[in-house]
Amino acid sequence: MDSIPANRRLWNRISSAYQHEHDPQIGAAPRLWGMYSIPDAHLHALGDVTGKRVLELGCGAGQWSRALAAEGAHVVGIDLSEAQLAAAVREMGAARYPLVQGAAEQLPFAADSFDLVFCDFGGLSWAPPHLAVPQAARILRPGGRLVFNVASPWFEACYDEAASRVTTTLQQDYFGLNTIAEGDGATSYQLTYGDWVRVLRGAGLIIDDLIEPRPEPATPNGYNETDPPDWARHWPAELLWVTHKP
Ligand SMILES: C[S@@+](CC[C@H](N)C(=O)[O-])C[C@H]1O[C@@H](n2cnc3c(N)ncnc32)[C@H](O)[C@@H]1O
Repeated sequence: MDSIPANRRLWNRISSAYQHEHDPQIGAAPRLWGMYSIPDAHLHALGDVTGKRVLELGCGAGQWSRALAAEGAHVVGIDLSEAQLAAAVREMGAARYPLVQGAAEQLPFAADSFDLVFCDFGGLSWAPPHLAVPQAARILRPGGRLVFNVASPWFEACYDEAASRVTTTLQQDYFGLNTIAEGDGATSYQLTYGDWVRVLRGAGLIIDDLIEPRPEPATPNGYNETDPPDWARHWPAELLWVTHKP
């Protein structure tokens, strides 16, 4: 299915409210991963990016991109939504970096262009992974890394649509997650653990780690209500894949 037009419309529509609500958390400090703002210094997913060619896939307002640019990376941010890219322009710091409008499933870059492709709930949550992962692998140089954070199947399977919160009851079929309707045709994507492994290996990538970020006690979830509030202390809310191209 082609979710590009509907996802673009969705993010153009919600960008302003989304940034108003979430930018203070996402951009509170450099290199914060996911729903619980866990510092990369605790997870060690990205490593040193100085001098590296880095692509943020679905960069949104570029909170990550501007932090890595300030560290000396040669960053490019790509996003589908012009409203999100406008937010990235507004929030760009002293270290300027280029922004590109485009889709993770149709990346407009040559092969071997980047040392690191990464995202945090970006293009690999909002584009079909069986299309976006091979695209990311294509534009990496040999030895380059694809690192990305997505919601876990546990989180999605326990999400109670009617109550708008994550619970301790399985609400949806694990094998039926696949696509998640976000309204008006917009779609996000979720694979089973096995399908992620197959998609990554099928694109020729080596899986180096699967980090399951676990928040410190009493860390609030800035996006979703969970019941109990410390749900993510008990089950993994996110999957942070660390892979490289041989
Ligand atoms: C949740 S934001 C991720 C950005 C940032 N890390 C954040 O948490 O706000 C998701 C971003 O993915 C972008 N997006 C949606 N579909 C996309 C696609 N097919 N290709 C690239 N970006 C896409 C949206 O416009 C949005 O900026």
